[in-house]
Amino acid sequence: MTDTLGTPGDSGEPGKLGKPGSAGDAGTPRGTSGGNPGEARGAGAPVLSLRGVSKRYGAVQALSDVDLDVHPGEVVALVGDNGAGKSTLIKVIAGVGPPDGGRITWEGRQVAIPRPHEAQSLGIATVYQDLALCDNLDVVANLFLGRELRRGLLLDEVGMEKQATELLTTLSVKIPSVRIPVASLSGGQRQTVAISRSLLGEPKVVMLDEPTAALGVEQTAQVLDLIERLRERGLGVILISHNMDDVLAVADRIAVLRLGRNNGVFDVRTVTREELLAAITGATDNAVSRRQARKSGEQGGGGQDGGEQGGGEQSGGAQDRGEQL
Ligand SMILES: Nc1ncnc2c1ncn2[C@@H]1O[C@H](COP(=O)(O)OP(=O)(O)OP(=O)(O)O)[C@@H](O)[C@H]1O
Ligand SMILES: [Mg+2]
Repeated sequence: MTDTLGTPGDSGEPGKLGKPGSAGDAGTPRGTSGGNPGEARGAGAPVLSLRGVSKRYGAVQALSDVDLDVHPGEVVALVGDNGAGKSTLIKVIAGVGPPDGGRITWEGRQVAIPRPHEAQSLGIATVYQDLALCDNLDVVANLFLGRELRRGLLLDEVGMEKQATELLTTLSVKIPSVRIPVASLSGGQRQTVAISRSLLGEPKVVMLDEPTAALGVEQTAQVLDLIERLRERGLGVILISHNMDDVLAVADRIAVLRLGRNNGVFDVRTVTREELLAAITGATDNAVSRRQARKSGEQGGGGQDGGEQGGGEQSGGAQDRGEQL
């Protein structure tokens, strides 16, 4: 149980990625995710595959026909504008909001994930933005919250502390002491504790919802380092982020959602910020789709969230650091 991360998988080298999707290919916005599932970084078959996933909330079609592949030893960033469907997709995978349609395949086997319990049993861990840490408890207690080790009737404090220290050391997480309350940790340290905690269940896929939001540069670097360590251990990581710097720094592939649909899967080594922003905002397809929509009398740029207008403003709006999308 001390080997909480399981057997390290093949982390692969940064040279094995599949071809990038094309943001300009508005007619077939699915990029590579609908193509050859075995072609991406984490060599071999994906650990998790989604095909044609859809999810509706009342009148809102939050997800339409979405595909996603995650390989062992691969960081897949999930990006998109507000309301694009990122959290909805995470909830589908986490068993919090099962899909209305589509297929989920886990290690080659079709599965249903109707509740969080099934996600956990499969080996899917989720770190939500609020982290759900108990401020007044120390790091050890937080790591083992709900799965405390016991010796007879008593808590095995020594055992938990030992495992906690081993885990954090393995992950090179820097914390002054595992016996200080989480309240006294920095935001970055708290985030690393929350991520470390998710690893105690020995997951194969970890989903992180905005793990670097509201963190400073140094703390962000700490979290990104940790994400790289998860990849080295063969985990598949799904990273939701609005920060392009973080995404470009740590992801292997970037899956763009737009208005609840796939809008390209990009190889981080070859994609440009402009391409990415264009895929996110829809700038590239607008010239075509708006015209078509006008002609057919439909709304072109609208969507369930009111939509961002594409156009040159966003695509030319790259900042020197970390544009928040
Ligand atoms: N529980 C819900 N009930 C009704 N509509 C919902 C619900 N959850 C999400 N939606 C709608 O589904 C769409 C996708 O929302 P989602 O939260 O997945 O977007 P997101 O990409 O995570 O956005 P953000 O970047 O703002 O977090 C939005 O239009 C949203 O209003
Ligand atoms: Mg969200």
